[in-house]
Amino acid sequence: SGRSIQHGLHHLEAREVLGQIGYAICPMIARGAMLGPDQPVILHMLDIEPAKTALEGVRMELIDAAYPLLAGVVATTNVEEACKGVDVAVMVGGFPRKAGMERKDVMSKNVAIYKSQASALEKNAAPGCKVLVVANPANTNSLILKEYAPSIPAENITCMTRLDHNRALGQLSERSGVHVSKVRNVIIWGNHSSTQYPDVNHATIDGKPAREVIGDDSYLDGDFISTVQQRGAAIIKARGLSSALSAASSACDHVRDWVLGTPEGTWVSMGVYSDGSYGAPKDIVYSFPVTCKDGKWTIKQGLSIDDASAAKMKATGDELVEEKALAMECLE
Ligand code: LMR
Repeated sequence: SGRSIQHGLHHLEAREVLGQIGYAICPMIARGAMLGPDQPVILHMLDIEPAKTALEGVRMELIDAAYPLLAGVVATTNVEEACKGVDVAVMVGGFPRKAGMERKDVMSKNVAIYKSQASALEKNAAPGCKVLVVANPANTNSLILKEYAPSIPAENITCMTRLDHNRALGQLSERSGVHVSKVRNVIIWGNHSSTQYPDVNHATIDGKPAREVIGDDSYLDGDFISTVQQRGAAIIKARGLSSALSAASSACDHVRDWVLGTPEGTWVSMGVYSDGSYGAPKDIVYSFPVTCKDGKWTIKQGLSIDDASAAKMKATGDELVEEKALAMECLE
């Protein structure tokens, strides 16, 4: 039931392939984890000049893996060429956070990169290109991209909080002993940072309210939240490198659900341009619960929010407003 190659090709761009996330995500995309098992893909990989030979090595490996779905590989150090005709752009390139650094420390290094890549995308990507920003500070990088690529609709520029969402599902699964596939509808509010608010108040485990199944509110309001908030740092400490396979896998989940739709009755978390829903600040990229259909996301409306949640949602929104101001300063 494959779609016609000519009409159905998706060009994907995985930036900075020598980065760990890039190296992890290419084989996932080539195997259909991002756009489904019937969708041929052409991978566009971009890296910096000093990595040119190594990038060529990755192109060789992708050919050697003989993927049935892989219809082409473009390996380049030219950003214009990398962006040419892409339908999906996964922005994994950036200066990585090292142990002991806060996301703010990487800000000045990364916002300048995103400003210059915005115009390359705007000029070269396919109309309707969907953009996912993974590199930190992810929310603010995607905001910069939106500001400097004004012809790309804001709704097409998103950032990844699916990794945090999946981490929250994983923690609830570990705690309850119920398989992660039966845990649904957690929410990550706000920033992909340690101020994010992982909210379990609407989550279910095997169809029952998560709070009932776990039966330990002090855990859910305490260690659960801090574990998810600090998971990125915990991985950096344990691996000596930031998360890569989980980030790559979650990026595939993000794009797949965006393009192919979320299952009935399920929402996922995505960083999207805020319309002020749930009292979030406008004109920043904030993570909300969203459902997706026909390639479009919609913020899930009407969820009840208690006072404790509202305070946490405000704190992470405040941080994003601050980050935005800092980013604009760095660009001046
Ligand atoms: C993560 O969440 O694993 C990454 O964003 C790395 C980090 O800086 O925490």
